[in-house]
Amino acid sequence: MTQDTIVSSWNDFDPLKHVIVGRADHCCVPPSEPAVDDKVPVDSKMKGMWGPRPLETVEAANEQLDGFAKLLESRGVRVDRPSPIQWNQSVQTPDFQTSSMFGCMPPRDVLLTVGKEILSAPMSFRCRYFEYLAYWPLMEQYFREDPTFRWEQAPRPRLTDESYRPNYGMGKHAMTIEERLEKVAAKEFVTTEVEPMFDAADVMRMGKDLFVQHGLTTNRTAMEWLQRHFHDHRVHAVNFPGDPYPIHIDATFVPLRPGLCINNPHRKMPEEQRKIFAKNDWEIVDAAMPAHDNPPPLCYSSTWLSMNCLVLDHNTVCVEASEVHQMEQMDKLGMEVIPVPLRDAYAFGGGIHCCTADVYREGSCEDYFPVQVPGTQIRPVE
Ligand code: NVA
Repeated sequence: MTQDTIVSSWNDFDPLKHVIVGRADHCCVPPSEPAVDDKVPVDSKMKGMWGPRPLETVEAANEQLDGFAKLLESRGVRVDRPSPIQWNQSVQTPDFQTSSMFGCMPPRDVLLTVGKEILSAPMSFRCRYFEYLAYWPLMEQYFREDPTFRWEQAPRPRLTDESYRPNYGMGKHAMTIEERLEKVAAKEFVTTEVEPMFDAADVMRMGKDLFVQHGLTTNRTAMEWLQRHFHDHRVHAVNFPGDPYPIHIDATFVPLRPGLCINNPHRKMPEEQRKIFAKNDWEIVDAAMPAHDNPPPLCYSSTWLSMNCLVLDHNTVCVEASEVHQMEQMDKLGMEVIPVPLRDAYAFGGGIHCCTADVYREGSCEDYFPVQVPGTQIRPVE
């Protein structure tokens, strides 16, 4: 074995040395299924549409993703890329069938790196069931090259109809945004609790503490599973009642360095959940407004991809190049800002943080929250 590779990352802000950057090849808009249907907003042009994305949009996205990869390399970061498979094919398991898959632009959704472990997530979208395959060649390589790398997979969910509430928000049960926000506040989502389901992008890693967003893509059973799996960590449940489609924490609550997070001002963290940050001298600052009024065409995400940044170290951050307000705020917060053109890739699964997954950051597992305040922990505080 040669030690070409070190797998290790405990947070989103220590110096980044090795990362995976996604690719847009063969990416599809997936067909109707319970979890996807609930994510696509009622007024979206994407409702009812599915199939391969137009080739010119794939090429434009790939050009920006390649450019981002080169930029990271020029800053001394090793970059690996997934091996896309033909996502435009139907898949079947004993429990479900779907007519196409999704893509591998956002590795952050699938791969959760915690210390020496990379865990592939048990995602709730049927169309994403086999997405991990695009990363397997890299996992095999890391396994050969780093003798201490822990290559893990969470229990594969069955994703039968039992995993979803029937007719949630569909047809005659369609919800207004206000009704949807009430459901979010009541933590009543399309997904049920019969099995653990989570997306890796719902987990914010902060050393010993993992803050996990409860939403459409991550259930409480998953948090219980994460707590048992990462038994030396403290797993916390957080939620953001202002978000009608709560999926992935990284356009909502984003750490920039030890002691500083930005929070989406439309999706404020509830007071009782903020206490643990205040007691440990963390500052939570409202994020700047997005520069755009609308997301790009055929995009699942909101304009808040503006805050979906990649921190390279405690002083340096990559922000999407058209997000002038967010860049200005980061600058005022004392960060060197690297503008990265990536808007053409947004429709393929997210922004600058989404299209990456950590392999190696320097640093170790710190305790940033030595004062534990009850309220968020999956295991009661003693
Ligand atoms: N679901 C989030 C994007 C997460 C990267 C949003 O649409 O704002």
